[in-house]
Amino acid sequence: MQRFQLNQETSSAQTVPVSYNLNDWQKGYRSLRDECAYWIDEIEGEVPIDLNGTLFRNGPGLLDIGGRRIHHPFDGDGMVCAFSFRNGRAHFRNRYVQTQGYLEEQQAEKILYRGVFGTQKPGGWLANFLDLRLKNIANTNIIYWGDKLLALWEAAEPHRLDPQTLETIGIDYLDGVLQPGSAFAAHPRIDPACQFDQGEPCLVNFAIKPGLSSRITIYELNAAGKVVRQHAHAVPGFAFMHDFAITPNYCIFFQAPMSFNPMPYLLGLKGAGQCLQVRKQPTQIVIIPRNGTDPVQFIPVDAGFVFHHANAFEQDGHLYIDSICYATLPDIEPDEDYLQVKFETLDPGQLWRFQVNPQTQTVDRQLIDPRCCEFPVVHPSQVGRPYRYLYVGAAHAPVGNAPLQALLKLDWQTGEQKLWSAAPRGFVGEPQFVARHNSTAEDEGWLLTLVFNAETERSELVILDARHLQPVAILRLKHHVPYGLHGFFTPQTFAPAD
Ligand SMILES: [Fe+2]
Repeated sequence: MQRFQLNQETSSAQTVPVSYNLNDWQKGYRSLRDECAYWIDEIEGEVPIDLNGTLFRNGPGLLDIGGRRIHHPFDGDGMVCAFSFRNGRAHFRNRYVQTQGYLEEQQAEKILYRGVFGTQKPGGWLANFLDLRLKNIANTNIIYWGDKLLALWEAAEPHRLDPQTLETIGIDYLDGVLQPGSAFAAHPRIDPACQFDQGEPCLVNFAIKPGLSSRITIYELNAAGKVVRQHAHAVPGFAFMHDFAITPNYCIFFQAPMSFNPMPYLLGLKGAGQCLQVRKQPTQIVIIPRNGTDPVQFIPVDAGFVFHHANAFEQDGHLYIDSICYATLPDIEPDEDYLQVKFETLDPGQLWRFQVNPQTQTVDRQLIDPRCCEFPVVHPSQVGRPYRYLYVGAAHAPVGNAPLQALLKLDWQTGEQKLWSAAPRGFVGEPQFVARHNSTAEDEGWLLTLVFNAETERSELVILDARHLQPVAILRLKHHVPYGLHGFFTPQTFAPAD
């Protein structure tokens, strides 16, 4: 385990009562090979009549290929689920993204590509030696923007799907902006009122080209899906950045102090993601002005590693960034089995607030809550703005490290917290906040999250009233869905006719 500079006193693993059974958790990591489409008829409670739209959600669907397990779920082929809501009813559909690698491996019934997180072709190191082909697995996120449904994987191009059927249309190059092999990150942010577009919403995303010196390219797409702004910036050192945050004026990245030793990858011994090494240096906050012309700022801070930012905003001449920080990252060694993870020995992701003074280049930081958490979301209209409510997947226990089994709502104004827990046998995924139509209060709406229920060995979509954090409906699927990553809600309903 490699340790970052963060705060060892508060982030070290602690012994707490265990709220889960590891065997239960493991059951959520089974392949789902079937592709289904049906109206959900097993519902506890009632789907709100005014909840209309479609929740798309992406994640690895296959944990084994040709009878051989992949090394890590992050290497799993992308499988998209769509929950479509209309007039109090809900329709479910799931389909695999028909990437080139998925089609080839399903045809061959064996692993043909190495994975970034350690999946190797059968045959030992010699069979993997100098095979540097990248399999675009399209498994991390899905967005609906400019009338296009795009499955995202950060190291390669997006795949476009049909939002009605989830059939794969093909790789999408954003009308020629991207080139074959271009990266396009899996964490776009939507500016709800872009000052460069007369207050219209725009989608902001980035691409990283890592190296001894790295390059970050910013893309901004208008509501029609056209790239209207694009600028690139050199960043000293190796950059592994999964997510970023935006404000009206800035794109903000946290560059963890890591380097890349390519030799084990080249020799066929490890995946590229297993070759990262932590350096004893602070994290760099990289602040890129969205106007594309002002200078980029680099401000050091002990922030550990960040997969996901909750939000950022500008206030009183300061920049505020709320992020989930890790003091360490678990190693994914070739001889380790991710299903045997000892959660209690790992450091949790924890919510921190960073207050940056750009004039003095200083940062004040505060650990907001020691509870293990991940997958933060806010009301879409508050992205990049001062906001009151944060929602995040969380562990059941208030300290220590454990799988996500609960949802936490944090009120920044009062400090009040609400927790809804699916423990001991439920395991939650990323929540999505859906605002009620014509709502005025920031927490007027619902939280949607997919829960794996180990008792039934099936998954269920739980709809919670976001104000009280209480379930209003539990939609039981006919099967499980493997633990996934990110999703997107659009108010457009894509469902078959009744
Ligand atoms: Fe992510």
